[in-house]
Amino acid sequence: MKNSFYLVLFVSIVLFSSCKNETKEPISASEKAAEIEEASSKIEPSYAQIGLDMAFSTKAQLGKNLMGTMKEKGTNEALQFCNIKAIPLTDSMATVHRARIKRVSDKTRNSNNKANETELKSIESFKNVLVNGEEIKPILETKNDSVYFYYPIVTNGMCLKCHGSKETIDPDVLASLNKLYPTDAATGYTENEVRGIWSIQFKAK
Ligand code: HEC
Repeated sequence: MKNSFYLVLFVSIVLFSSCKNETKEPISASEKAAEIEEASSKIEPSYAQIGLDMAFSTKAQLGKNLMGTMKEKGTNEALQFCNIKAIPLTDSMATVHRARIKRVSDKTRNSNNKANETELKSIESFKNVLVNGEEIKPILETKNDSVYFYYPIVTNGMCLKCHGSKETIDPDVLASLNKLYPTDAATGYTENEVRGIWSIQFKAK
């Protein structure tokens, strides 16, 4: 009697522990894939992150030069600086990042910055995001081994000294604008509007 009690106890312990083993055993394929993806995303930044890094570092480069010139020499000098340096500076950042980086708009000052059809669609959708107060997230498309990244360029008070109206643009700045950009469409903005977008193309991994 006693022996059979121990036998039952022994068998149930074996069964119980084998049961326990089973529950923590095989990981499903999808769980495994998720684990790998999580691990690799820690090492490799996402396309969104890569694009944002390029956009922000180029913005910082342009902003630093623009603000510096505005402070030291005034808005009119800064305007001349933008006229000569904005595109070369953007291009040099593109070389650094081995990507194609453009600053484009639906209402351009420099017609070389005109948005194409796809870019215009992104601009429209960012305008809606801003108006509705939604979270701003980059738009990403992958096509033929390339990643296309779009992210809005939004106005603040400072921009209005060159992109605002007669109330915010000094007369001498306005005169320079008319001279340098006779077909300028990039005025009449207020704060917190989509002035344009970063349009960045880089190689897919
Ligand atoms: C000192 C004057 C000045 C200020 C301030 C200024 N811009 Fe501009 N902006 C220009 C000039 C000049 C150009 C044209 C550059 C060129 O010819 O490549 C330009 C071009 C641009 C473009 C490219 C599209 C186009 O119209 O050609 C964007 C986008 C832009 N500015 C956004 C901004 C934003 C956003 C701010 C504020 C954070 C700002 N700008 C402040 C003078 C200015």
